[in-house]
Amino acid sequence: MRVLVAVASKHGSTREIADAIGQTLEAAGLDATVADIDLVSDTSGYDAAVLGSGAYAGNWLKAARAFVDRNEQALAKMPVWLFSSGPLGDPLKPDDDEAVKIQGIEKATKAADHAIFPGALDKATLSFGERAIIKAVRAREGDFRNWDAIADWAKEIAMCLKGEWPYTS
Ligand SMILES: Cc1cc2nc3c(=O)[nH]c(=O)nc-3n(C[C@H](O)[C@H](O)[C@H](O)COP(=O)(O)O)c2cc1C
Repeated sequence: MRVLVAVASKHGSTREIADAIGQTLEAAGLDATVADIDLVSDTSGYDAAVLGSGAYAGNWLKAARAFVDRNEQALAKMPVWLFSSGPLGDPLKPDDDEAVKIQGIEKATKAADHAIFPGALDKATLSFGERAIIKAVRAREGDFRNWDAIADWAKEIAMCLKGEWPYTS
């Protein structure tokens, strides 16, 4: 079972989440390939896809949206899981229903699930414009990623793909 884990990440933290998902899938005996989504042309050669993006202004990054547009028909015919990373702070902000709105992508891909994971923010890596936005919304700097929750989610995907758990899209 070959699984594509394709990710759009502006500052690298969502890419590390994708790497962790890939490692968990591999540990469960699946053949996982983790790739930057803008370097993947299509889904040929894969039996399932896990797609993710950092959340920016309530949406996925352009490269991730473009990948779904390009591959909509193929994705609708294969098992697909989606993840986003974004919310920051303790308590986390924004709430899941405000963090990222990708109902169109969920529908187009017939995804089994869309997980929203807390993200990470390092002001030193941001552009001038990004820093202004972060200041305006008072986003908290820090690394809020929950590696246990990410591993648990990936384990569920592995169980579905191995037929140990029902797949429902
Ligand atoms: C300019 C800017 C806008 C952001 N907008 C959102 C947002 O709409 N929703 C959200 O949950 N997080 C938002 N975030 C937080 C990022 O999604 C978070 O830092 C994420 O971990 C970044 O992923 P990356 O390192 O893969 O780019 C924003 C961050 C920046 C810098």
